[in-house]
Amino acid sequence: QTLLLNKKFIVLLGFMGVGKTSLGRGLSKKLNLPHIDTDFEIEKVKNMKISSIFESYGESYFRELEQNIIIDIFSKNQESVISLGGGSFLNIKIREHIKNKCISIWLNANVDTIYKRITKSNNIRPVFSRLKSKNDLEVLLHERSQVYKEADIKIDSENLNKYSLVEKVLYKIDDYLEKKDENY
Ligand code: S3P
Repeated sequence: QTLLLNKKFIVLLGFMGVGKTSLGRGLSKKLNLPHIDTDFEIEKVKNMKISSIFESYGESYFRELEQNIIIDIFSKNQESVISLGGGSFLNIKIREHIKNKCISIWLNANVDTIYKRITKSNNIRPVFSRLKSKNDLEVLLHERSQVYKEADIKIDSENLNKYSLVEKVLYKIDDYLEKKDENY
Protein backbone atom coordinates (compact mmCIF):
# COMPACT_ATOMS: atom_id res chain seq x y z
CA GLN A 1 0.00 0.00 0.00
CA THR A 2 1.30 3.41 -0.95
CA LEU A 3 -1.16 4.69 1.61
CA LEU A 4 1.50 5.78 4.05
CA LEU A 5 3.76 7.63 1.57
CA ASN A 6 7.16 7.82 3.19
CA LYS A 7 5.79 7.20 6.68
CA LYS A 8 6.16 3.69 8.00
CA PHE A 9 3.95 3.74 11.02
CA ILE A 10 0.55 4.90 12.07
CA VAL A 11 0.83 5.96 15.68
CA LEU A 12 -2.08 6.38 18.08
CA LEU A 13 -1.51 8.67 21.01
CA GLY A 14 -3.58 10.38 23.66
CA PHE A 15 -4.62 10.21 27.29
CA MET A 16 -5.14 7.04 29.34
CA GLY A 17 -8.47 5.39 28.71
CA VAL A 18 -9.34 6.96 25.35
CA GLY A 19 -9.14 3.60 23.55
CA LYS A 20 -5.75 3.65 21.79
CA THR A 21 -5.30 -0.11 22.07
CA SER A 22 -8.74 -1.01 20.82
CA LEU A 23 -8.60 1.45 17.91
CA GLY A 24 -5.11 0.18 17.04
CA ARG A 25 -6.42 -3.37 16.78
CA GLY A 26 -9.32 -2.28 14.58
CA LEU A 27 -7.11 -0.24 12.27
CA SER A 28 -4.53 -2.96 11.93
CA LYS A 29 -7.18 -5.49 10.91
CA LYS A 30 -8.70 -3.14 8.39
CA LEU A 31 -5.34 -2.14 6.90
CA ASN A 32 -3.89 -5.61 7.16
CA LEU A 33 -0.86 -4.32 9.06
CA PRO A 34 0.62 -5.69 12.29
CA HIS A 35 -0.41 -4.02 15.54
CA ILE A 36 2.06 -3.14 18.28
CA ASP A 37 0.95 -1.93 21.70
CA THR A 38 3.98 -0.35 23.35
CA ASP A 39 2.79 -1.01 26.93
CA PHE A 40 2.44 -4.71 26.10
CA GLU A 41 5.92 -4.70 24.60
CA ILE A 42 7.31 -3.16 27.79
CA GLU A 43 5.49 -5.78 29.89
CA LYS A 44 6.84 -8.56 27.67
CA VAL A 45 10.43 -7.36 27.90
CA LYS A 46 10.35 -7.07 31.71
CA ASN A 47 7.87 -9.88 32.21
CA MET A 48 6.08 -7.56 34.64
CA LYS A 49 2.89 -5.52 34.64
CA ILE A 50 3.37 -1.77 34.10
CA SER A 51 2.03 -1.13 37.61
CA SER A 52 4.66 -3.45 39.13
CA ILE A 53 7.43 -1.76 37.17
CA PHE A 54 6.33 1.60 38.62
CA GLU A 55 6.09 0.09 42.09
CA SER A 56 9.43 -1.74 42.08
CA TYR A 57 11.63 0.63 40.09
CA GLY A 58 9.85 4.00 39.99
CA GLU A 59 8.55 6.17 37.18
CA SER A 60 11.85 7.42 35.77
CA TYR A 61 13.02 3.84 35.25
CA PHE A 62 9.76 3.12 33.45
CA ARG A 63 10.14 6.21 31.26
CA GLU A 64 13.64 5.22 30.21
CA LEU A 65 12.54 1.70 29.38
CA GLU A 66 9.58 3.13 27.48
CA GLN A 67 11.86 5.40 25.45
CA ASN A 68 14.28 2.60 24.55
CA ILE A 69 11.62 0.12 23.58
CA ILE A 70 9.63 2.58 21.48
CA ILE A 71 12.66 3.93 19.63
CA ASP A 72 13.71 0.35 18.98
CA ILE A 73 10.30 -0.34 17.42
CA PHE A 74 10.76 2.65 15.11
CA SER A 75 14.08 1.25 13.89
CA LYS A 76 12.28 -1.79 12.46
CA ASN A 77 11.29 -1.81 8.86
CA GLN A 78 7.87 -3.29 8.80
CA GLU A 79 4.93 -0.96 8.41
CA SER A 80 2.62 -1.20 11.40
CA VAL A 81 -0.01 0.39 13.56
CA ILE A 82 1.35 1.40 16.97
CA SER A 83 -0.66 2.22 20.11
CA LEU A 84 1.39 4.27 22.59
CA GLY A 85 1.03 4.67 26.35
CA GLY A 86 -0.53 7.92 27.55
CA GLY A 87 2.82 9.45 28.53
CA SER A 88 4.94 8.34 25.56
CA PHE A 89 4.37 11.34 23.29
CA LEU A 90 5.44 13.70 26.07
CA ASN A 91 8.98 12.39 25.70
CA ILE A 92 10.83 14.71 23.32
CA LYS A 93 12.98 11.99 21.74
CA ILE A 94 10.00 9.76 21.09
CA ARG A 95 8.10 12.76 19.74
CA GLU A 96 10.88 13.60 17.29
CA HIS A 97 10.96 10.05 15.97
CA ILE A 98 7.22 10.19 15.52
CA LYS A 99 7.36 13.45 13.61
CA ASN A 100 9.90 11.97 11.20
CA LYS A 101 8.59 8.50 10.67
CA CYS A 102 4.94 8.32 11.52
CA ILE A 103 1.49 9.56 10.79
CA SER A 104 0.37 10.50 14.27
CA ILE A 105 -3.20 10.41 15.46
CA TRP A 106 -4.37 12.01 18.69
CA LEU A 107 -7.39 10.18 19.99
CA ASN A 108 -9.32 12.34 22.40
CA ALA A 109 -12.44 12.12 24.55
CA ASN A 110 -13.98 14.31 27.22
CA VAL A 111 -12.98 14.07 30.85
CA ASP A 112 -16.16 12.29 32.01
CA THR A 113 -15.79 9.56 29.42
CA ILE A 114 -12.14 9.12 30.28
CA TYR A 115 -12.86 9.01 34.01
CA LYS A 116 -15.57 6.39 33.52
CA ARG A 117 -13.40 4.24 31.29
CA ILE A 118 -10.39 4.32 33.62
CA THR A 119 -12.38 3.58 36.77
CA LYS A 120 -14.25 0.70 35.10
CA SER A 121 -11.13 -0.90 33.68
CA ASN A 122 -9.17 -3.68 35.45
CA ASN A 123 -5.95 -2.19 34.17
CA ILE A 124 -4.13 -0.57 37.12
CA ARG A 125 -2.78 2.79 35.97
CA PRO A 126 -0.16 4.19 38.33
CA VAL A 127 -0.36 7.72 36.92
CA PHE A 128 -4.10 7.74 37.52
CA SER A 129 -3.82 6.14 40.99
CA ARG A 130 -1.84 9.06 42.33
CA LEU A 131 -4.45 11.64 41.33
CA LYS A 132 -6.80 12.74 44.07
CA SER A 133 -9.88 13.84 42.19
CA LYS A 134 -11.58 14.11 38.86
CA ASN A 135 -10.46 17.71 38.83
CA ASP A 136 -6.82 16.57 39.02
CA LEU A 137 -7.54 14.35 36.06
CA GLU A 138 -8.95 17.27 34.13
CA VAL A 139 -5.90 19.41 34.90
CA LEU A 140 -3.53 16.69 33.72
CA LEU A 141 -5.60 16.10 30.59
CA HIS A 142 -5.53 19.79 29.79
CA GLU A 143 -1.79 20.01 30.40
CA ARG A 144 -0.97 17.00 28.25
CA SER A 145 -3.29 18.11 25.47
CA GLN A 146 -0.91 21.03 24.82
CA VAL A 147 1.55 18.42 23.60
CA TYR A 148 -0.87 15.87 22.14
CA LYS A 149 -2.13 18.58 19.79
CA GLU A 150 1.16 18.43 17.90
CA ALA A 151 -0.10 15.20 16.29
CA ASP A 152 -0.86 15.25 12.55
CA ILE A 153 -4.48 14.28 12.98
CA LYS A 154 -6.98 14.78 15.80
CA ILE A 155 -9.92 12.48 16.35
CA ASP A 156 -12.71 12.82 18.87
CA SER A 157 -13.89 9.36 19.87
CA GLU A 158 -17.03 10.64 21.59
CA ASN A 159 -20.28 8.96 20.51
CA LEU A 160 -18.68 6.63 17.99
CA ASN A 161 -18.71 2.85 18.11
CA LYS A 162 -15.57 0.86 17.30
CA TYR A 163 -16.45 0.43 13.65
CA SER A 164 -17.37 3.98 12.80
CA LEU A 165 -14.30 5.16 14.67
CA VAL A 166 -12.06 3.06 12.41
CA GLU A 167 -13.87 4.44 9.36
CA LYS A 168 -13.49 7.99 10.58
CA VAL A 169 -9.77 7.54 11.18
CA LEU A 170 -9.23 6.05 7.72
CA TYR A 171 -11.10 8.92 6.17
CA LYS A 172 -9.00 11.44 8.10
CA ILE A 173 -5.76 9.72 7.10
CA ASP A 174 -6.74 9.87 3.43
CA ASP A 175 -7.66 13.48 3.77
CA TYR A 176 -4.38 14.29 5.51
CA LEU A 177 -2.31 12.50 2.86
CA GLU A 178 -4.17 14.18 0.03
CA LYS A 179 -3.50 17.62 1.50
CA LYS A 180 0.16 16.73 2.01
CA ASP A 181 0.36 15.53 -1.55
CA GLU A 182 -0.91 18.87 -2.83
CA ASN A 183 1.94 20.60 -1.07
CA TYR A 184 4.73 18.73 -2.84
C1 S3P B 1 0.71 6.25 31.32
C2 S3P B 1 -0.26 5.58 30.60
C3 S3P B 1 -0.32 4.12 30.51
C4 S3P B 1 1.05 3.49 30.75
C5 S3P B 1 1.65 4.01 32.01
C6 S3P B 1 1.81 5.53 32.02
C7 S3P B 1 0.65 7.73 31.38
O1 S3P B 1 -0.82 3.76 29.23
O2 S3P B 1 1.93 3.72 29.69
O3 S3P B 1 0.82 3.60 33.06
O4 S3P B 1 1.63 8.37 31.82
O5 S3P B 1 -0.38 8.30 30.96
P1 S3P B 1 -2.38 3.93 28.80
O6 S3P B 1 -2.52 5.26 28.13
O7 S3P B 1 -2.59 2.81 27.83
O8 S3P B 1 -3.19 3.81 30.03
